[in-house]
Amino acid sequence: MKFTEFAGLFAAALVASVIALFAISFVVDTINGASEPVATAHPEKPAVAAKSAEPVAAEPTKSVSPAKVASAAPAAKPAGKKRHPGRKIYLRKGACAACHGRKGQRAISYYPSIAGQDKKYIITQIADIIKGTRVGGLDPATGHPSTEAMRGALVTSDGTARISNDDIRQMADWLTHLPPARPRTPETPIPAENIAKGKKLFGKCLSCHGKQGKKPLRGYPFLAGQKRQYLLMQMTFIRDKIRTNGKTKVMLPFVKKLSDEQLGMIADYLSQIDRSKK
Ligand code: HEC
Ligand code: HEC
Repeated sequence: MKFTEFAGLFAAALVASVIALFAISFVVDTINGASEPVATAHPEKPAVAAKSAEPVAAEPTKSVSPAKVASAAPAAKPAGKKRHPGRKIYLRKGACAACHGRKGQRAISYYPSIAGQDKKYIITQIADIIKGTRVGGLDPATGHPSTEAMRGALVTSDGTARISNDDIRQMADWLTHLPPARPRTPETPIPAENIAKGKKLFGKCLSCHGKQGKKPLRGYPFLAGQKRQYLLMQMTFIRDKIRTNGKTKVMLPFVKKLSDEQLGMIADYLSQIDRSKK
């Protein structure tokens, strides 16, 4: 065989194997539901219609193109690791991206952003949701308790969890090092007055969540830049003793007397804070 023929064959084989690799990673990602779901509006729910989406569980309807899969760069490099094992568990075994976005930032609907959250808090919450000790009030889109979608995706019909405690720790270690989501511009501008009042009301909360919700005690949640509706729901659930897991009890005296309107203003304020800024 002449060298030119050999080089031609070699190049053809190389192209074929690259295509095969693309195809495999595409199929694997599709099966594992690692891609973003398409947001579907709820015509019957005008209040949340524009930005809300059906919690599509682990079955996203849109799949990522092979090229996109191949070029998806690792978002965090804790301890210099390009490919953190927690990322793989999050994207594949956990199929968390369907609801929380590929980098934990662009969650669908009013589901929480989890990138850059406190590591210990992430661990306790995933465990509590799987165990069923963390429940929330009714999700306005589905009518089910708000933790049901996630629990349904992670617990099989015979009650066993699809992910182990070690999986949870690995994912938490990866997620906590990711850059937190930037605040979203609200559809209807928030009156400056609400922000000012919310800031004042939040004065009572600093001892645990830190200035601007940016410096929580260890194991407590960051609140700055979290989604407005999610914040409002959780404050209401904790106030009304629907969410009673973990350390929620220590917070109760601080929210007990706050009205829906006051909680709304706190959510207005916190949701607009950019955690990347000092
Ligand atoms: C079917 C959608 C869905 C899937 C899949 C899902 N989650 Fe969730 N997750 C939610 C919803 C909804 C909430 C908020 C529940 C509530 O309102 O109380 C949540 C809450 C959380 C929280 C708590 C956030 C906070 O601020 O308290 C963490 C952490 C979390 N999810 C991580 C994960 C991880 C990691 C995976 C994959 C193993 C995952 N989730 C899979 C929908 C989902
Ligand atoms: C004494 C400490 C403490 C104080 C004060 C406190 N919190 Fe909390 N807060 C917590 C803890 C602890 C949690 C997490 C509970 C758990 O373990 O699941 C929490 C959770 C939350 C959450 C849910 C976050 C999420 O990601 O789901 C919101 C929102 C919140 N607090 C808002 C407030 C506001 C607003 C105030 C003031 C009116 C306040 N907190 C005062 C301790 C406190």
